[in-house]
Amino acid sequence: MMNIAVLISGSGSNLQTLIDACERKEIDAKIVSVYSNKKNVYGLNRAEKHGIKTYHLEDLESLCDTNYDLIVLAGFLKILPKNVVEKYEHKIINIHPSLIPSFCGKGYYGMKVHQAVIDYGVKVTGCTTHFVSEGADEGPIIMQKWLQVEDDDAQSIQKKVLELEHQCLVESVKAFVEGRIEVKDRKVSIHE
Ligand code: GAR
Repeated sequence: MMNIAVLISGSGSNLQTLIDACERKEIDAKIVSVYSNKKNVYGLNRAEKHGIKTYHLEDLESLCDTNYDLIVLAGFLKILPKNVVEKYEHKIINIHPSLIPSFCGKGYYGMKVHQAVIDYGVKVTGCTTHFVSEGADEGPIIMQKWLQVEDDDAQSIQKKVLELEHQCLVESVKAFVEGRIEVKDRKVSIHE
């Protein structure tokens, strides 16, 4: 069974959906570690409630000392060091709350993304899972889900996108664990 590490910086609702999907065996894998770069975030309580080991991650390079089958960045707001990205090529999945390549990269995280979406006046937004490469939000795109922006503000759109994120992340991790993801250059195919 695959071992997964999840990295968080906040409330961990995406982490929770992964924990639930693993517990009901929709995803046939085990989340063995949850790392946070911030102390006292709610996501750490979620992990502890389910008996998952938690770590306060100060030294990101220590990720290289362990062999995980997959690392998931679920609301993790730091850039990973080069050697971690190299060691885990196509084995780190990030979820981002916009349709990459819009509203992504340096400075675009959390509510800032949704505020920018509203301020720009785009009619469609959503979320993206992608493999992590060295540049922020630049790696091969695995899956995107979208919705129409209606009479929304940043808060309401954030809520709607978060629901899509939960589906998108579970589907992406499930496909990875089942060995159904193929990457050629930056084109990702998901097989049935
Ligand atoms: C999610 O919306 C995630 O996409 C975003 O942080 C939020 C974490 O929520 N990540 C980024 O903005 C990364 N650039 P959660 O802690 O409830 O899962």
